[in-house]
Amino acid sequence: MENLSRRRVLTLGAGLGLVGAATPSTAWAWSSAGSIAGTDTITDPWGVWDDATDPLVASLLRDGQIPAVNTAFDKWVNNGDALPSGIPAGLTTYLQQHNRLPSWADQTKLNRAAQFNKRMSMYLFLLYGLGSGIMSTVIPREARNVYWSEGGADMKARAAKTFTYGYDLSAIDAFQPSGHFVVTSNKTRLTHAAVRHLLPQSAKWRAVTDDQDFIPISNGDILITFHSLGTFVHGKLKSWGIRMSAAEEDAFLHMWQVALHLLGVRDDFIPASWAAAKQQSAYALTPIMAPTPEGIDLADILLGLTSQIDLGVTKGFQREFARYLLSDKVGDWLKLPRDYAARTLIEVGWPAYVAFREGLSPIMPTGFSMFDRFVRGLAMLFLNNGTSATYTPITIPTGNRPG
Ligand code: HEM
Repeated sequence: MENLSRRRVLTLGAGLGLVGAATPSTAWAWSSAGSIAGTDTITDPWGVWDDATDPLVASLLRDGQIPAVNTAFDKWVNNGDALPSGIPAGLTTYLQQHNRLPSWADQTKLNRAAQFNKRMSMYLFLLYGLGSGIMSTVIPREARNVYWSEGGADMKARAAKTFTYGYDLSAIDAFQPSGHFVVTSNKTRLTHAAVRHLLPQSAKWRAVTDDQDFIPISNGDILITFHSLGTFVHGKLKSWGIRMSAAEEDAFLHMWQVALHLLGVRDDFIPASWAAAKQQSAYALTPIMAPTPEGIDLADILLGLTSQIDLGVTKGFQREFARYLLSDKVGDWLKLPRDYAARTLIEVGWPAYVAFREGLSPIMPTGFSMFDRFVRGLAMLFLNNGTSATYTPITIPTGNRPG
């Protein structure tokens, strides 16, 4: 109740121009002219949460109904599945409204994105897994949220659940009735709404969060995370010289636009082009990246999980690859150990590996098999989670990090 009223005060205050709104550092000035809504207004997404979902999930949590919902959700997997029975009527009504693609979704583009994901899959596993995954640990709010929420205590399960999302998004039938992504997105959106209700009750989280972040996971925060995923991956593929047609690039963006909509982000915040996305990313993500004790711990755990399997490379190589993807500044923040020999190998070998794989160079580089094993090993790590019996469904939390 206290948080809700603080939120109302903030929204009202922002509306009246009395407060600088809930931004991590500066006031939001990104115009919605670059958004898919195409209007020319400036609304602060750090002061926007998910009004359609948050009160519903808060009441389900208060009434102790989430465990039953999670059980009912267990068998609700395919986009084409009927809505699960045995869930509260309010949730059924909600899902009837939200378990669908937005009116502006374009199936042709989504199908093209699926083909593109298939062609790019090896790079995507690497970039999302070792790039975006580690980048999330230098996004302070995300790192603190993840650390102090229920799942923060078991990062292996959490990473597996997050992978479920990535796998479902990148599957060939992601948006088809046989695919999972619309359902998975709805479960994620409900999970985020639960976190908004639960984390403010954590004294440990409240002690470390920035004072304006009193309700987590705003639309602005979700946009930042999107840039650490979609915008980051797109930028890396471009910089590596991977062949992408304009239609493929556009389709990949469209897939992310739909994904953001399904997570409850408003159309006037969703970038309409990669140019607009890059601009928003430079504006919203780049300046706020910073180390936190939580993020340093999470990065160490995540990188440790990846080194548990034999990727045919040393731990030093793997850490250097993360540095190579994210910059040494980020690597230093996260205290990733140095391995200068591995770094030289990566700087010379990786561009040569990509050029050969992409048919841009006829010469097989000397380190080809090592890089190939590394990339394939990472892919298998994720695929095992995504396809085997260990497939980890997303469940709505009912508490915060224990202890
Ligand atoms: C949960 C994806 C943005 C914090 C989840 C889950 C997924 C997911 C798939 C369910 C798996 C799990 O429970 O671990 C995404 C995507 C995002 C996004 C695709 C944006 C494009 C954010 C942001 C924050 C955040 C911006 C915080 C600032 C959390 C937390 C959980 C969660 C705390 C719950 C973990 C728990 O169960 O304790 N998210 N997320 N997410 N997300 Fe997000």
